[in-house]
Amino acid sequence: MREFVTFLLNGKRRTIRAESPTRTLLEYLREDVGLRGTKEGCAEGDCGACTVTVSHVVDGELTHRALNSCILFLSALDGRSVTTVDALTEPDGSLHPVQRAMVETHGSQCGFCTPGFVMSLYTASLNGMQLDRRGAEDAVAGNLCRCTGYGPILEAAKQVGSLPARPMSWDDDPGSVDEITDVQTVQLSDPRQTSFAPTSVDELASLYAAHPDATIVAGATDVGLWVTKQHRMLPTLIHVSRVADLRSIEETDERLTIGAGVTYSEAWEVLTRHFPDLGELVRRIGAIQVRDAGTIGGNIANGSPIGDMPPALITLGATLVLRHGETTRRLPLEDFFFEYGKQDRAPGEFVAAVEIPLDGQGANLRCYKVSKRFDQDITAVLGCFDIRIGGDGRVSAARIAFGGMAGVPKRAKTVEDALLGEAWTDATVEAAIPAFAEDFQPIDDMRASAAYRLLVAGNLLRKALHETTRPRSETRLVGAGAAIT
Ligand code: FAD
Ligand code: FES
Ligand code: FES
Repeated sequence: MREFVTFLLNGKRRTIRAESPTRTLLEYLREDVGLRGTKEGCAEGDCGACTVTVSHVVDGELTHRALNSCILFLSALDGRSVTTVDALTEPDGSLHPVQRAMVETHGSQCGFCTPGFVMSLYTASLNGMQLDRRGAEDAVAGNLCRCTGYGPILEAAKQVGSLPARPMSWDDDPGSVDEITDVQTVQLSDPRQTSFAPTSVDELASLYAAHPDATIVAGATDVGLWVTKQHRMLPTLIHVSRVADLRSIEETDERLTIGAGVTYSEAWEVLTRHFPDLGELVRRIGAIQVRDAGTIGGNIANGSPIGDMPPALITLGATLVLRHGETTRRLPLEDFFFEYGKQDRAPGEFVAAVEIPLDGQGANLRCYKVSKRFDQDITAVLGCFDIRIGGDGRVSAARIAFGGMAGVPKRAKTVEDALLGEAWTDATVEAAIPAFAEDFQPIDDMRASAAYRLLVAGNLLRKALHETTRPRSETRLVGAGAAIT
């Protein structure tokens, strides 16, 4: 066990000992090191003012991620290389091409948001992201600007996309990052808190069995906010981000297995390949800073009724793999969620992976997220549909699951029953829609009223019918809200 965390900051090695494991990287940068280029806006992962580039080595190559340093714990940084906006300007004051693009396109007024935009674009250019209109919008969707207007910033992004990437020397050298770490479990403590960051799944299992009250931390896009917004004291934390076994993606003819520590960004390619609509849904989870940190395992384990992945995975018939000590068990994902805030997970038991069956029919899946904004917004209603039609034109199988309609992500079994064996037509769908009120008694909250949620659920079933029986261009919704894909 090593009792310090070591990482590179702008190419220089830093060692942290005897520190609160929930101290954020942003606090460390601004208060301890005096690097104040990185700004604090919201402290909850929403505005991107605190964006930094965090790199680590995977299979001998450097992987670069744009992360919100306001919800990134120092204790999670072992073996990482952090680049901040302060390092991009040369000692003689000459600007990095990304910074120059922001100046030349008038992409900055008060300048508060600018460092965050610069670091999002710097990371996008390191990753060779195509910065056409859609790519540029994706690259900066997690950055808010209250005064410039996004037109000039998107122009800057386009300019960055037309230039070769210019990495800082340490962002181009896997060796310098690889050599700073090892496979030891890292422990970081202060008098009130302790964190562990193991590297093997066996070590994780025995640590969690020994500390069943510990908080597991994956990408901290939920847990980070418990600290920065709710000021919760977390006495013991166990990080899973260094556990290689949880970060793997395996594909066989029968199934896709995604480790609980795999981030949305890492899973996006394989999910899109098998399930195009799920890829589109993932593109709408938070923004890049959230998808580069947040994990599918965290989205399941947090038990949220409005998490985006569970309804899709339940529709696909996914199985959850859970581990406790030496014991591994599997259960259908839909049985994991008992009621609001209560899941089928024992103290000391963690999510190891999710298995998704592959039958070559992934294009059949339809997922529709309804939220007030297209990007970086939490779901009001999410509907996922896998409706199979037999040779006779009748529904031979139906799996439908919703988020935002109950205290847990849940199947619409009465609606499914109303469709089974019937012709896949407008008349069948209209006859099935009232059954949503039997499956769900949604609540009124700030995101949507119960009546709106029920109306939208019916409309999404209509949309699934239209999309599977008519060309997409003819698809029209009746009275549902904005931001639907
Ligand atoms: P963490 O925050 O690390 O953990 C979340 C919970 O899961 C904690 O209770 C933790 O103890 C537990 N946990 C994590 N991993 C395991 C494991 N392997 N075993 C057992 N327990 C575990 N969510 C959406 O669904 N859609 C969105 O559009 C969306 N947008 C967001 C936008 C912003 C700005 C932010 C800050 C968050 C957003 N979220 C969204 C919520 C969040 O990003 C997701 O829930 C994410 O998947 C959480 O994953 P994580 O790795 O960050 O989990
Ligand atoms: Fe707003 Fe970090 S300060 S995302
Ligand atoms: Fe002022 Fe963006 S330039 S917030």
